[in-house]
Amino acid sequence: MSPFVLTRTLPEDATDAALRADVLKGLTSTPKTLPPKWFYDARGSELFEQITELPEYYPTRAEREILMDRAGEIAAATGARTLVELGSGSSRKTRYVIEALTGLHTYVPVDVSESALGQAGHALIAERPGLDVHALIADFTGGLSLPDTPGPRLVAFLGGTIGNLLPAERAAFLASVRALLAPGDALLLGTDLVKDEKVLVEAYDDAAGVTAAFNKNVLEVINRELGADFDPAAFEHVALWDTRSEWIEMRLRSRTAQTVKVPALDLAVDFAAGEEMRTEVSAKFRKEGMRAELSAAGLELAHWWTDGQGRFALSLSVAR
Ligand code: SAH
Ligand code: AVI
Repeated sequence: MSPFVLTRTLPEDATDAALRADVLKGLTSTPKTLPPKWFYDARGSELFEQITELPEYYPTRAEREILMDRAGEIAAATGARTLVELGSGSSRKTRYVIEALTGLHTYVPVDVSESALGQAGHALIAERPGLDVHALIADFTGGLSLPDTPGPRLVAFLGGTIGNLLPAERAAFLASVRALLAPGDALLLGTDLVKDEKVLVEAYDDAAGVTAAFNKNVLEVINRELGADFDPAAFEHVALWDTRSEWIEMRLRSRTAQTVKVPALDLAVDFAAGEEMRTEVSAKFRKEGMRAELSAAGLELAHWWTDGQGRFALSLSVAR
């Protein structure tokens, strides 16, 4: 077998149909919403990588610190021969775990971003000759079917991306992850933690405006894929902390009253001046809440590691 295989688990027209369905539902709902997975075309993936370097955006640095410190313990506790990574993006931080897993046979990065998978996969096989990399272009919320590779299996879900799922989606997602595991297999999960509101809001509203460009990129995706005429400059980036739900919410606020046409959906959408459309939630967690959510899905929390400043947690849970 070639060491790098890229499999599209959904035909391109299914992705297209999913985008149409999400945009139709989201733009005709009150309030309007768009799901965050559509941020990540090639430009969106590149903007996310820029976000990870911003002084205000601490999660990537905090999680990297934990992974560097704990990769050996993760390898010893799991002895994984197959590492599946959901929402793998650049796979950059994952390298610490891959290096520590000396018996690793196959790495399965899973992402909706083909550009991110291609770049990461080629870099990895150059660094670790002999490792099979079987990349999957797939939606991690949509019932994954994984290649038949040797166990034990470790599923990694890093970056705090679990926070981008709404609570009901999160419960369904954790149950679906559990279904990918045999008893004794493990989940390595990155979760951003509840903290001071100012620190959180600045992480999602940086001074250089990169997060604003990332947020507006979803409008460019809809323009390109569905022929819409969104003017990104006519929308303002908004990031706010929802104390009750304990999540950051990103929104796009219409600067004026305007009508946007989406020809592929035969749709004209009115925005009032000041109307806000939610484009992402980024939930922040606490240890006991996470333990309960994992347990409800059949996963036993075994380790909870944080960075030196207690901003971010990496947990290792074992399938019962
Ligand atoms: N894990 C990396 C990247 C996080 S960015 C890190 O920690 O830096 C979130 C990643 O998840 C992006 O690469 C995006 O393309 C992917 N993603 C978002 N929603 C997805 C979905 N529903 N299914 C699969 N991948 C998704
Ligand atoms: C991918 N995910 C964990 C990021 C987050 O922090 O919620 C996406 C992001 N949105 C704005 N900045 C980064």
